[in-house]
Amino acid sequence: MKKNFGILPDGTQATLYTITGGGLTATVTDFGAHLVSLFVPDRNGNVDDVVLGYDDANGYLTGNGAYLGATVGRNANRVKGASFMLGDTRIRMSANEGENNLHSGPDGFHLRMWNLVRRGPHFITLNLVSPQGDQGFPGKADIYVTYSLEKDGVLRIRYDGICDRDTVMNMTNHSYFNLAGHHRGEAAMKQELILPGRFFNPDDAENIPTGELRSVDGTPMDFRQPKPIGRDIDCDYDPLHLQAGYDHNWEVFCSPCAILRDPGSGREMAVSTDCPGIQFYAGNFLNETGKGGISYGFREGIALETQFYPDSVHHSEWPQPFVKAGEHYHSETAYKFSW
Ligand code: GLA
Repeated sequence: MKKNFGILPDGTQATLYTITGGGLTATVTDFGAHLVSLFVPDRNGNVDDVVLGYDDANGYLTGNGAYLGATVGRNANRVKGASFMLGDTRIRMSANEGENNLHSGPDGFHLRMWNLVRRGPHFITLNLVSPQGDQGFPGKADIYVTYSLEKDGVLRIRYDGICDRDTVMNMTNHSYFNLAGHHRGEAAMKQELILPGRFFNPDDAENIPTGELRSVDGTPMDFRQPKPIGRDIDCDYDPLHLQAGYDHNWEVFCSPCAILRDPGSGREMAVSTDCPGIQFYAGNFLNETGKGGISYGFREGIALETQFYPDSVHHSEWPQPFVKAGEHYHSETAYKFSW
């Protein structure tokens, strides 16, 4: 199924595609390859939309920049000083958050029109050609994102790409989840989270990793046992003060690398990925008007962004987001729902 999702200021028509499978229904738009909605049953069979989004393509342009449901690339998260070395070449990106780069700059992939490649009842593949020099990165990159709904309640997002020069590839999806339903108007703080990761990255005041990998042991960052997100979020702990709550990268230690549960509805989401890191952002700065005019406020959605560690381009000791010319980039993340 497809429908009109609005006309952009440049006259381009955006489309919203619906896919179904595994007990789930999702909508995805070609504008920014956003995940717009995701309908999941609860324990009584009532279906709710559990991701935050906007009513039409223009909402994604005029929103307050929270990256709701966004496909982010070429490089997710932050780059200190908006510049780094790729081999012998200094790469200069736009500074769009103070001196630093966030999500590859103001011209993010989530603000581009993607092309429909293929679709079926259960999947959709979209393509973007990122030209040489795009966002400051070398080479022309041909990038694909596939959303599929699979048996047993799985939403899988796959990223594929190839570039004609050595470059960076570190794609993520920036959906905010509220397993009680996006429209509940309540903070997701009673929802329980498990993050098996043993280490997280403390950040400086600009949300850039200090370089330390710190054990979660004995800290409010310890989610190895299920814990309501709100239990420790306002604890007197420097990394929480600096980021106004959780907004940090955890190591991906095993699969699943995150489980989110809503005791109220009985919904659960287990995240598995081939990425080395997962950024857990508790929506500390959320302030958007979303689908159906619903306000999304403080901590009303939880982002779990699978990715390379933030600013990994400056930390050769961490897994590296570089790909060689002609090398196939592939990454995928599965979000498995039960209810
Ligand atoms: C971006 C990042 C999140 C968080 C917010 C803060 O959306 O992806 O992790 O840092 O900025 O506003």
